[in-house]
Amino acid sequence: MKINKLEITNFKGIKSFELDLKCQDAMISGRNESGKTTIMDAFLWLMFGRDSLDQTNFEIKPINQTTGETMHGLETVVEGELEHEGKTLLLQKVYYEKWTKERGSVEKVFTGHTTDYYINQVPVKQSEYQEKINSIAKENVFKLLSNPLNFNENMSWTDRRNLLLSVAGNVGKKEIMATNEKLRELEEILKEREIDEHKRVLAATIKGLNNDIEKIPTRIDETNRNRPDISEIDFNALQGEIAALRAEQDKVRGKANDIKFGAELSKLTLESAQTETAAIKLSNKYSSDNELALKQLRNEHTDISNATDVKERDLRAYQSAKEGLARSLENYDEQKKELLKQWEEVNNRTFTISLEEVCPACGQDIPKESLEETREKALKDFNLKKSKQLEEIVTKGKTIINPLIEQTMATLKTSEENIARVLKDIEDVKKRLQAKDDDITTLQKSQKTVQDDPAYVSLMEKAKGIEGNISKLKAGVYDQEKELAAEIEKIEKEIIAVQERLALKDQNTKALERIEELKLEERALAKQLEQAQKQLDLVNLYIKTQVDLLDSKINTKFELARFKLFEVQVNGGLRECCETLYKGIPYSSMNNAARINVGLDISRTLAKHYGVNIPCFCDNAESVDDYIEMDGQMIFLYVSKEHKQLEVKLFQKEN
Ligand SMILES: Nc1ncnc2c1ncn2[C@@H]1O[C@H](COP(=O)(O)OP(=O)(O)OP(=O)(O)O)[C@@H](O)[C@H]1O
Ligand SMILES: [Mg+2]
Repeated sequence: MKINKLEITNFKGIKSFELDLKCQDAMISGRNESGKTTIMDAFLWLMFGRDSLDQTNFEIKPINQTTGETMHGLETVVEGELEHEGKTLLLQKVYYEKWTKERGSVEKVFTGHTTDYYINQVPVKQSEYQEKINSIAKENVFKLLSNPLNFNENMSWTDRRNLLLSVAGNVGKKEIMATNEKLRELEEILKEREIDEHKRVLAATIKGLNNDIEKIPTRIDETNRNRPDISEIDFNALQGEIAALRAEQDKVRGKANDIKFGAELSKLTLESAQTETAAIKLSNKYSSDNELALKQLRNEHTDISNATDVKERDLRAYQSAKEGLARSLENYDEQKKELLKQWEEVNNRTFTISLEEVCPACGQDIPKESLEETREKALKDFNLKKSKQLEEIVTKGKTIINPLIEQTMATLKTSEENIARVLKDIEDVKKRLQAKDDDITTLQKSQKTVQDDPAYVSLMEKAKGIEGNISKLKAGVYDQEKELAAEIEKIEKEIIAVQERLALKDQNTKALERIEELKLEERALAKQLEQAQKQLDLVNLYIKTQVDLLDSKINTKFELARFKLFEVQVNGGLRECCETLYKGIPYSSMNNAARINVGLDISRTLAKHYGVNIPCFCDNAESVDDYIEMDGQMIFLYVSKEHKQLEVKLFQKEN
């Protein structure tokens, strides 16, 4: 992209200025305060609303230099006629104050600023305008390419470093390892951690190992000092001493056991047990004899008792039968009475008849003889029927009821006889039962108990005597036992003392073994240290290779500028940084010409990297004798006392 024309009106200190560059490089000369930098500001403002110091809040409107006050009511206009990819692009920005009249008020009041945007003289929205410029180059790229000092003066070191790495391409692990076969050893480790972290781990390991190694001689010394001196000790004699003490202790223990479980005591204990057994045996004999004698009587008693039960059951059966028979008899008596009643009723019946003397059919009188005949016949029938009925009743009484009554009475009599007989039987049996009860009581009273047996009494007395003797014996033994226990303990203490001396041999051996172990540990640690050191050397080689590769990669991209991307720290480690150098001199100490040329060098590389050319303003160009060649349009702002007015000189690039 190139500037063809730039028209500036009421922008900062410039009232009106037209810069006609014809897309060529130019030298704009003027003395101080003549407005050179303002031209650059105007172009950057047209593009992004920023000035050459990357500010957005600078005063755009003209200030009256005598009063120091901002001038109102003016329109600030910057218009650029640009050439980009063979096409002309007209960009215009108009900035003005907004004055509005409030309702009911006569005077207008200031309500802020407005900026209007035009592309090819067509008004557009701010967003469209910015989009257009962004399509040429992104704002950050624009800033870097339009001002050669931007990279070194307005960017943070981290941004600068990242930008350089993106231009040159970072150096990868594989690339570094490919430079030296030895570095392959780090391959596995670097899959898990970064080189710096690995270096830190190694440093810590080495420190730890050195520490441990340093401590080992002291630890050996200490163990040696604590090792017991056994030169004067006769361990065989000590073993003998212990054996003798143990034998002595066993002897005392035997004595104590003899007392505790002594012969006298065992004898008495045995005797006591035997006496007790004899007493129990005797007692058991009494119980079984008495029981045997009683058993026969008890069995007989049970038999009688069972017989009583049978008799009582019979009695209940007879009584129940008797009651049944009595009820039947009552019933038959009733039936007999009923028959008598029937008989009397039939017997008392008399003959009566009334005969019709006129024939109902013909109405003629029936003859007397005929009437008499009929009456006699009826009487005869009546008498015959009556005597028949009476006979029937008598027959029923004689043949059915009377035999039943006689039979029942006979059975009832038998029943009563049976009851009487059973009652007598029961009485007999009960007497026998009572007699048996008496026999048992008498027998029980007559039986002897074991306590009455003099043999049993003497056995019990004997047992008591033996128990007394045992108690007395035990009381005496307790004191002796105490004495012997004290003696056993005393010998035990002596044994422990000898054992402690014997243990010195073990302690001595262990200490010697420990010393051997420590020596081995020292050797192992030394080996580990050697390996860690070797690793550290490798890591350092890796880092140095990385730095060298990165340096050469980046430096080949620039003609003058060099960069320091790592800083060696006091501890030998590397810290990332980004410092621009020229002939080894850092940017902060460079002369002005070097700063400008180095800046131009960087801008040129970046332009190539981004593939775009942006007009580059080189302020304070008078500081430089010789410029490096640039590909894009260059506008040099040159301080020159002779030029009261700005003078623009165009020149063609030498190709
Ligand atoms: N808003 C403003 N209104 C009016 N004048 C301004 C405004 N801002 C800056 N100026 C003045 O404009 C003049 C031109 O400034 P500019 O920075 O462009 O000068 P210059 O030619 O680059 O000077 P030098 O050679 O010292 O760099 C200066 O006197 C400056 O004080
Ligand atoms: Mg200036």
